[in-house]
Amino acid sequence: MINAAITGVASYVPEKVLTNFDLEKIVDTNDEWIVSRTGIRERHIAAEGEASSDMSVKAIERLLEKTGVKAKEIDAIIVATVTPDMLFPSTAALIQEKIGASKAWGYDLSGACSGFLFALKSGSALVQTGHKKVIVVGVDTMSSILDYTDRNTCILFGDGAGAVLLEPTEDDRYGIIDNLLFVDGSGADALHMKAGGSRKPATHATVDAREHYLFQDGRSVFKRASLDMAKVSVDILNKNNFKAEDVAIFIPHQANKRIIDVAARRAGFTDEQVLINIDKYGNTTAGTLPLGLDEVVQENRIKDGDLVLLAAFGAGYTWGSTLLRYGPTRKA
Ligand code: UT7
Repeated sequence: MINAAITGVASYVPEKVLTNFDLEKIVDTNDEWIVSRTGIRERHIAAEGEASSDMSVKAIERLLEKTGVKAKEIDAIIVATVTPDMLFPSTAALIQEKIGASKAWGYDLSGACSGFLFALKSGSALVQTGHKKVIVVGVDTMSSILDYTDRNTCILFGDGAGAVLLEPTEDDRYGIIDNLLFVDGSGADALHMKAGGSRKPATHATVDAREHYLFQDGRSVFKRASLDMAKVSVDILNKNNFKAEDVAIFIPHQANKRIIDVAARRAGFTDEQVLINIDKYGNTTAGTLPLGLDEVVQENRIKDGDLVLLAAFGAGYTWGSTLLRYGPTRKA
């Protein structure tokens, strides 16, 4: 049976760093509150004019360099994002042109913080039905939709991109094992952007009412995220007859360290098994999982064939988990 394997990963975050101390000068907040309530110390912010396709291109260029794959070999590009450069054309199309992936088709996918998991499933299906090289990107330029006068939200998010290469394998030591993916649209009221879509096109009034920014009812999202990210992490292990100790690394979505701790504890992971980088990047929405995967690969915390668990929860609501055996790493 043909399965999709992750044969490479790379990421990119913008140069500019916005620390909690910088935010203290902008809104009524403080480092102690942010660190104790969220685990975040700093986040990276895109430069003026730097958009999601630009960050994605940087991540993909690193991925192609590492793996020795040429842009012309890519069959498809799937981009998970809620902050596309423009509503259309797709960010995938812009990336395709910029990197010269002349035979690739592709599309954007809106799954918010779970977007990378949804895109991985989508990319896997393409690989299982004949595509040889699919690039899956998770990217968000959250700074472009944040209200830097709202302390409830502006402290939480950052910008970043990560990309993986999916290739077919028939070797059961590698590849994606299972996905549990969910949507519950009753969560739409708790986390959304009010204007700029077909419901409320941009007008002077929507701009004046600050409706082109992310809105979040933090407490409601926190409760559901804590419950569901933990449950979906435990469920996928049980369903596939794995125990916590079989997992080399657990990479949870980085929205709040307290949500991560609940999931890690319920699933029975030790601190060493859990990737936490929210302190450096904040919540990069679709970017967190590939950023995390790139970090554990770069730090040699996993090797080819190791069991990796990814889990996420976000706007929609959307949530899910993916269990995979990493590699085989393609080297240039
Ligand atoms: O990735 C997408 C999914 N998103 C998430 O998973 C995020 C889920 N939510 C959360 O992570 C948390 O709810 C937050 C970090 C957003 C908020 O933490 P909390 O412990 O739920 O705080 P809270 O909203 O209950 O607010 C507690 C207090 C409030 O003051 P009062 O009403 O008790 O006087 C807030 O006004 O903290 C205040 N507060 C702040 N204080 C200093 C809110 N934001 C700040 C701030 N600095 N930045």
